[in-house]
Amino acid sequence: MKSKWTGVAGSVALAVVVAGWAFAQPTGQPPAGERPPGGPRPGGRPQSVEGLMKQVNRAFRTLKREAGKPESKDQVLAAITQMELAAVAAKDLTPNGHVRWTEAEKPMKVLQFRRGQIELLELLLLIEKNALDGKTPEVQAGVEKIEAMRKSMHEKLGVEEEEEEGEEGPRGPGGR
Ligand code: HEM
Repeated sequence: MKSKWTGVAGSVALAVVVAGWAFAQPTGQPPAGERPPGGPRPGGRPQSVEGLMKQVNRAFRTLKREAGKPESKDQVLAAITQMELAAVAAKDLTPNGHVRWTEAEKPMKVLQFRRGQIELLELLLLIEKNALDGKTPEVQAGVEKIEAMRKSMHEKLGVEEEEEEGEEGPRGPGGR
């Protein structure tokens, strides 16, 4: 019998292949300097963790907004896929934009980062299955788990989040 983890591993492997394909496609990107921060580099190479995290953040905003609406299934699934692709691309890169790690702690933090991205992917794949099955309450519960995971991982890794346009930062309005 196929175990749950064989299934998850298969889905992750598929996501890796799809991500590789996606990043290998011609991007039709504007010239250097006009590209959005974190956008693909020339040659379709994956970006920085910072850029990929911004991608996760934008898709997660859509996911949070639409998760409770059964009629938004397509939008929910598209947002989940964007997050999965970004997490696959990010997991074996080294964060260096918004973290202040000493050389001594860096290997451990990089390992924690990679494990965290894998956990994020596992959760996203479960949410995706629930979304496909139209299990709206389960999708909402999954979104809350991701929110908690983001908070705890960012704390553990000492991430200093920047505010993006139209967004309150982690410190909330009136924060530092
Ligand atoms: C939905 C979940 C998550 C969201 C929405 C999110 C969002 C963000 C945002 C907005 C940033 C700052 C990007 C910038 O301003 O430049 C960031 C950075 C970062 N996040 Fe996340 N994050 C999530 C999950 C995670 C998880 C699970 C991990 C750990 C495995 C993680 C690790 C990091 C790290 C290390 C950085 C700093 C990257 C660098 O500066 O190079 N995040 N994240």
